[in-house]
Amino acid sequence: MATMESLIGLVNKIQRACTVLGDYGGQGMSLWEALPSVAVVGGQSSGKSSVLESIVGRDFLPRGSGIVTRRPLVLQLHKTESGAEYAEFLHAPKRRFTDFAAVRKEISDETDRITGKTKQISNIPIHLSIYSPNVVNLTLIDLPGLTKVAVEGQSDSIVEDIENMVRSYVEKPNCIILAITPANQDIATSDAIKLAREVDPSGERTFGVLTKLDLMDKGTNATEVLEGRAYRLQHPWVGIVNRSQADINKNVDMIIARRKEREYFETSPDYGHLASRMGSEYLAKLLSQHLELVIRQRIPSIIAMINKTIDELNAELDRIGRPVAADGGAQLYMILELCRAFDRVFKEHLD
Ligand code: GDP
Ligand code: NA
Ligand code: MG
Repeated sequence: MATMESLIGLVNKIQRACTVLGDYGGQGMSLWEALPSVAVVGGQSSGKSSVLESIVGRDFLPRGSGIVTRRPLVLQLHKTESGAEYAEFLHAPKRRFTDFAAVRKEISDETDRITGKTKQISNIPIHLSIYSPNVVNLTLIDLPGLTKVAVEGQSDSIVEDIENMVRSYVEKPNCIILAITPANQDIATSDAIKLAREVDPSGERTFGVLTKLDLMDKGTNATEVLEGRAYRLQHPWVGIVNRSQADINKNVDMIIARRKEREYFETSPDYGHLASRMGSEYLAKLLSQHLELVIRQRIPSIIAMINKTIDELNAELDRIGRPVAADGGAQLYMILELCRAFDRVFKEHLD
């Protein structure tokens, strides 16, 4: 019986294979889409990139005020046993990044490569893999922040364009939504919750994340939300305290920030009773467990999807006639072989 890590790791491998080799999922739902991933959704500056960084435990995302995330970032986390820690981009497969400041620069350069140094957005994703002993196996997608008005240098359609891009991810039934809402704003006006409610009315695939608890007005607290009384979701809300801009400017280490966050909850008069269910580390574990559960439920449909792909590939190979030269045909064979391998492994997980 495989462990939870290896099952999620397997799905990560399929997602990567589909990305590298092109997606042969056919007309309906593609294989990639059949596999669960987690999308981070929220208004600009709500703390999306900060939440991602705390889950990863490394400082590697471009930041600043305004629209910084301008292309979707598909981030695959792989837990290493060896203690090795490095990053790789799909667009630069031969380069192994060990300096996370260089990862940040590459994300930013790669964003500009498509959009130019503008404030425009592009829906062509950047694929990044991070290998680390401090992560759980997860696929996370960072998305541009929802916004209400276009700024200087942006087209009038930008507000709608961003919303449509984000919606194209979160409307997929297998997308787990991390709805980021800052605690120092009215939750009723949360862009993330509004969109999540639209695409997931029952709340079964939405995780509410309340950031900036430390920035709430003195004398107020978020227990109504965190205890699920203000806005009920099927999953419990998780409160988060990310690094402030001052912390970031002082280069406060992520691991130290995680510890400070834990202390914040443990010593808080408002949230002490919730401490074991708060914070970025808890959020990462919760997501990983949920992903595991979802994958287990989906194994039969994933097998069906893989078999459909195998049939389609066989039909395609018959059509172009085999054996084929080392062009497109060879790639189809590779995908076919991969599908067969995944089919075998998934069947082993069925019992
Ligand atoms: P994004 O635009 O949604 O990706 O937001 P960022 O993660 O870039 O955060 C925007 C700003 O809010 C940064 O200056 C962060 O330091 C700050 N910030 C985010 N979360 C918190 C938090 O929980 N507490 C505090 N004090 N600041 C936060
Ligand atoms: Na931002
Ligand atoms: Mg961001």
